[in-house]
Amino acid sequence: MATIAEPVLSFTRLPHPAPVADEVREGILAAPGFGTQFTDHMVVIEWTEGKGWHDATIGPRGPIPLDPAASVLHYAQEIFEGLKAYKHADGSIALFRPQANAQRFNASATRLAMPELPEDVFVEAVRQLVLADQSWIPGQEGASLYLRPFMIATEPFLGVRSAKQYKFIVIASPAGNYFKSGAPAVSIWVSEYTRAAPGGTGAAKCGGNYAASLVPTAEAFARGHDQVLFLDAAEHKWVEELGGMNLFFAFEDGSLLTPPLSGTILPGITRASLIELAREEGLTIREERYSIDQWREDAASGKLLETFACGTAAVVTPVGRVASPDGTSFTIGSGGPGQTTAKLKDRLVAIQRGQMADTHGWVM
Ligand code: COI
Repeated sequence: MATIAEPVLSFTRLPHPAPVADEVREGILAAPGFGTQFTDHMVVIEWTEGKGWHDATIGPRGPIPLDPAASVLHYAQEIFEGLKAYKHADGSIALFRPQANAQRFNASATRLAMPELPEDVFVEAVRQLVLADQSWIPGQEGASLYLRPFMIATEPFLGVRSAKQYKFIVIASPAGNYFKSGAPAVSIWVSEYTRAAPGGTGAAKCGGNYAASLVPTAEAFARGHDQVLFLDAAEHKWVEELGGMNLFFAFEDGSLLTPPLSGTILPGITRASLIELAREEGLTIREERYSIDQWREDAASGKLLETFACGTAAVVTPVGRVASPDGTSFTIGSGGPGQTTAKLKDRLVAIQRGQMADTHGWVM
């Protein structure tokens, strides 16, 4: 169990005049869905050139004042993270690898020419919000409190350069299943659009990457699929990632393949955790390029047994079917959840929920 270093900023608690009534909150927590309901509080920290990070507050969640010329509204200078807080059976509250989110947040900040936030401040901000809104953490299986730290450029300025003022904010949202369908496995649409090119922002968690995925995602939904798959920009051949999740492939020879972190793929924290857990399960990990044609061929020959998507929001989600714009489609294995996917998911979730010893020091 990791401990928290003393933060360099102190947080001012602002009074909340009207938190959500207990019975309303309990109704929301009974069926939380994903990303539609929000807790009472938010953390805000300001950054100003020459002054650094200052004025850290935790107060009522609500609209933020923003000048219409704020850079984020024009040039999308924005980054975010996603992590979860879990209620354990003994009543304690756990965060999963928040330091890893803090590190990735700073990598994104660097790519988007934004100021880095000290990792301990990031973690403390998340911790403060979870403590303030602990009554919002759903306790039932599969549910958690999804935390969304983000940073926006607030300077009113229309020239194209990095801004001189930013806000770091953390909000929280009680979360159940990311996929509404509730189907045992999801169906994937192969996009003709590209998510990220070499040298671009594909490895950064910035809003622009997700904005660019909305047209292909809408196409996937319109065709009855749950998610969109992006291939590489150069050859439109190599599997990269889904709209907001990494992919893994389990083979009959006991190997587990995931596309390498080439700079165009988000370095998922769930991805990294599963690689470690899979090694411990005796699987051979291959961080290798995998083509869509090979995927189709391996699914047909039976060499490929399972495919799953993973991410903070999606956790571990089996992929059952893949459809392409050329009218072809294929099924992986039985089209439903497979053993390796279930085993890895169970181990990950058991660690996150405090049902299995945390031998990695991932739980805070
Ligand atoms: C997450 O998994 O936390 C993400 O940011 C992905 C998004 C699609 C919800």
